[in-house]
Amino acid sequence: MSVQSQKRRLSPANIEALKGERPIVSLTAYTTPIARLLDPHVDFLLVGDSVGMVLYGLDTTVGVTLEMMIAHGQAVMRGSQQACVVIDMPFGSYQESKEQAFRSAARILKETGCSAVKLEGGAEMAETVAFLVSRGIPVLGHVGLMPQLVNTTGGYRSVGRNDKEVAKIRRDAKAIDDAGAFGIVIEGTVEPVAREITAELRSPTIGIGASPACDGQILVSDDMLGLFNDFKPRFVKHFAELAPAISKAAEDYAAEVKARSFPGIEHTFQVKK
Ligand code: KIV
Repeated sequence: MSVQSQKRRLSPANIEALKGERPIVSLTAYTTPIARLLDPHVDFLLVGDSVGMVLYGLDTTVGVTLEMMIAHGQAVMRGSQQACVVIDMPFGSYQESKEQAFRSAARILKETGCSAVKLEGGAEMAETVAFLVSRGIPVLGHVGLMPQLVNTTGGYRSVGRNDKEVAKIRRDAKAIDDAGAFGIVIEGTVEPVAREITAELRSPTIGIGASPACDGQILVSDDMLGLFNDFKPRFVKHFAELAPAISKAAEDYAAEVKARSFPGIEHTFQVKK
């Protein structure tokens, strides 16, 4: 990677500095062609471990590996030029110790060229976040609904609906902020809680299912592009309807192949006379 291409990209510090300036725009990306299309429009691209569910058909993100994240991270780096690229640390690659977290995060940065990692967790992960940040690894936090905890929390339920949950999510966000994260994803909570946390924190909050009160927004690209007919939670808006468009294209292709009207003369190589 050239020094010039490094310079063109937004850095984690640039993202952090947007708090109070304007809303931060982010989407997930997992592949080169999609990264290329999204890159001009976002501040950062997240190579989320949602890749496991979205591209691999897994039921949860728990089965995602470091190797998968690195391969998709490399693909997204190849397809983007200006966006800051953040790569999720998968389940099992950082929870054991801060040293394990450093080794995994360093591999992600070295092998992909991305600028930052994201990890899930609240107060219990604060020491790890501080350890990474103090050793040169920018970290995006992730609190509230944490998909990697599905086996202990029991599902994808929004949080912050009672006093105990509100106190916990506020404590978690503050701990990760104090540990030096350059931003914090807040997933699945109610508007007053997101508003309070956003006002309290030094770093910007990036909401997903967490209301417009956050400093920025992120969505899973495949959700907002309407690629799933059978999954549309309340917080997702379809900005396109790609699922029916793809089905129709496949149907038309099949009909033309069966009718021998595709390939036509214009798609066929001819012998030159
Ligand atoms: O994995 C992911 O895509 C995420 C976003 C939903 C924030 O963590």
